[in-house]
Amino acid sequence: MISQNMQNALNAHVQAEMYSSYLYQAMSAWCTSQNYAGFGRWLRVQAAEEHAHALKLLDFVLDRGGKAELKAIDAPPAEFGTIVQVFEAVLKHEVHVTQMVHELFAKSRTEKDLASETFLQWFVAEQVQEEATASEIVGKLRMVGDRPGAALYLDKEYGKRQG
Ligand code: FEO
Repeated sequence: MISQNMQNALNAHVQAEMYSSYLYQAMSAWCTSQNYAGFGRWLRVQAAEEHAHALKLLDFVLDRGGKAELKAIDAPPAEFGTIVQVFEAVLKHEVHVTQMVHELFAKSRTEKDLASETFLQWFVAEQVQEEATASEIVGKLRMVGDRPGAALYLDKEYGKRQG
């Protein structure tokens, strides 16, 4: 059985992952509307991944005999400035999520909840990847600067993402 404290924290993180999904859908729509269809596709795949993260947490709460409490999700912004600013915002958001995951992990230790601690290790490792990927895209887009040809090449490359 899961403690009320841990259950609340995990449910709060379901909300955070759902917001990530919603945010990336909004970014995807913005990219597509700005003729960056490749980055739009990349972000849509990322949004689906965030949704899967939320469900992974939800299933864990249920597997532990806990209660899933789905909370309201804020509306994401609709304007993101430039393509490099989109991915700077992705990176900033992922750094924020990493901090949340670390706090959740620390809570599992305080609660002496070994099952949650083991489960959350996956999220800790996943965040390393998420930050590295976002950081790589920001780096490449900054390198490209205001050369549209190079930006469109990156758009095409990242648009190949399947999962
Ligand atoms: Fe599920 Fe990008 O954190």
